[in-house]
Amino acid sequence: MTDDDAAFALLSRQITTASGFALAAYKDKCIRRRIAVRMRACGVHTYQDYGALLAGSPHEYERLRDALTINVTRFYRNAETWSLIRRVLLPELLGGPRGELRAWSAGCASGEEPYTLVVLAADYLDREGRGDELARVTVDATDIDRVSLERARAGCYRSEGLAELPADLAERYFEAAGPCRRVVERARRRVLVRHLDLSTEPPPRLEYNLILCRNVVIYFDRAVQERVFQIFAGALAPGGFLVLGKVETLFGPARDRLTLVDPRERIYRRPSS
Ligand SMILES: C[S@@+](CC[C@H](N)C(=O)[O-])C[C@H]1O[C@@H](n2cnc3c(N)ncnc32)[C@H](O)[C@@H]1O
Repeated sequence: MTDDDAAFALLSRQITTASGFALAAYKDKCIRRRIAVRMRACGVHTYQDYGALLAGSPHEYERLRDALTINVTRFYRNAETWSLIRRVLLPELLGGPRGELRAWSAGCASGEEPYTLVVLAADYLDREGRGDELARVTVDATDIDRVSLERARAGCYRSEGLAELPADLAERYFEAAGPCRRVVERARRRVLVRHLDLSTEPPPRLEYNLILCRNVVIYFDRAVQERVFQIFAGALAPGGFLVLGKVETLFGPARDRLTLVDPRERIYRRPSS
C-alpha cells in the first residue's frame, strides 16, 4: 500500500465514521474523483489536510455528501425505456380487473423517476376509463440522500425539468404551484418517499412487480452490486420486472434468477413460476 493509499483509507474511515456514509460500498476510483473535486474547491492538496478541514467543518461534510451522491435525474429520462414501460409493461401489469402496480424506484434522487412512473400509470388507467383505480398503483421511492428526498417529498419542479416528458402528460398531470409545476395530488399520493441505503438495508417490502434502479449501482463496487441485484431478485414477485440503467448489466447469482427480456433497455424479469 502506498502512502497515498494509506492516507486515502484513513480519510475514508474518518468520513464513514463521522457521516455514516458507507464509502466502502462504492468504487474507489469514483470516490477518489469526487473527493478530489471537493479538495480542489477547498484549495487543499493532501488527504490529510482535507481530513483536518472536514474535522472542523460540518458544512464541508454536507458538500462532500452532495458531491458523492450524484443526483442527476430528469422526468422521462431515456425516453425509449419509458416508451417501452408505457407500451408493454404497464398494460401487462395494470391490465385486467386484478391489475396492480407495486413498484420500487430504488435511488429515486429528487423524485422525477417515481413521478414519471405514476403519471404514466395514471395516463394508462385514464385512457382505459379506469381512472378511479389509481389506488391500485403504489410506488416506493427511496434514496440515501436526504436533500434529494426532501425535494422528492415536495414534488415541485421547474417547468424546464419537464422538457422531455410528452407535452400532453405535462399538461394533464401537473398543476401550477407558485413558480413551479407539481404532479396532481391524486397521482402524487401514490408515491411513498423514504430514506433507504441500498448498500446496507433490506428492501422496503417484497412482491414488487416492477423495480426501477437506474444509474445507481454503477457507482457501487462489484461485490455490493451483486448483493443489491440479489436483493432485487428476492424482492420481485413472480413475473415482476427489473429495469436497470442503459449501461448497467445484471451479474452474479441474480443472473440465474432473472431472465433478460429486453437487452437494449436492460429489462429483466423474474419467471412466473
Ligand atoms: C444519478 S441518480 C439516479 C436517479 C434516477 N434513478 C435516474 O436514473 O434518473 C443516483 C442516485 O442514487 C443515489 N444513491 C447513491 N448511493 C445510494 C445508496 N447507497 N442507497 C440509495 N441510494 C443511493 C444517489 O443519492 C442519487 O440520488
